Amino acid sequence: MSKTYRIAPSILSADFARLGEEVRNVIAAGADWIHFDVMDNHYVPNLTFGPMVCQALKPHAKRPDGTPVPIDVHLMIEPVDALAAAFAEAGADLISFHPDASGHVHRSIQAIKSKGCQAGLVFNPAQPLDVLDWVIDDIDLILIMSVNPGFGGQSFIDSALRKTEAVRRRIEASGKDIRLEVDGGIKADNIRRVADAGADTFVAGSAIFGKPDYKAVIDAMRQALA
Ligand code: DX5
Ligand code: ZN
Repeated sequence: MSKTYRIAPSILSADFARLGEEVRNVIAAGADWIHFDVMDNHYVPNLTFGPMVCQALKPHAKRPDGTPVPIDVHLMIEPVDALAAAFAEAGADLISFHPDASGHVHRSIQAIKSKGCQAGLVFNPAQPLDVLDWVIDDIDLILIMSVNPGFGGQSFIDSALRKTEAVRRRIEASGKDIRLEVDGGIKADNIRRVADAGADTFVAGSAIFGKPDYKAVIDAMRQALA
């Protein structure tokens, strides 16, 4: 399994009136990726931001020495393909979508990869993993939802741990280098359990942006992972 743990703060819980500054601050605090939650008021009940906001934040997604920090776009939208292409053009590095939101999952993956982005599949808490039988060789990331998508600040659903273990077994069997990310309800006090289940990448929104000291939270998460 990938040895490097990555922490991907979700700007869904950031101050939307100061998004560029929030991205810079959370990178200074140790963020590895910026998680960008796109909601369409159709696939999920909430509505957030689109490609123009991604494009506006792209110049802020870098370390002080200029090293780019990947933008990890989580599409909670239906249909997928047209907006996925727009996000690729807006500077997304990884683009993940929910297979149940695409009529043609393989085509959506190829649409993302043809734009030079890494492609991921996202699984809701009650969504089976069967589609992986057919596309695991084509993807770079698997994202397990540990809450129902749509809102930050929800409680972690424990069955996501079993699902993460099952996905880790599939990744090992595939022999591919695929990131295993978990999203929803992750805090410093449960991140170790998520890692032990096989995750290597952790989304955290309210746990980080809900606190005054982002670095203290990210440091506590890394400590729990160490
Ligand atoms: C939920 C989003 C999550 C959300 C996580 O639909 O996909 O990325 O921001 O927020 P927390 O960490 O607060 O559960
Ligand atoms: Zn997300």
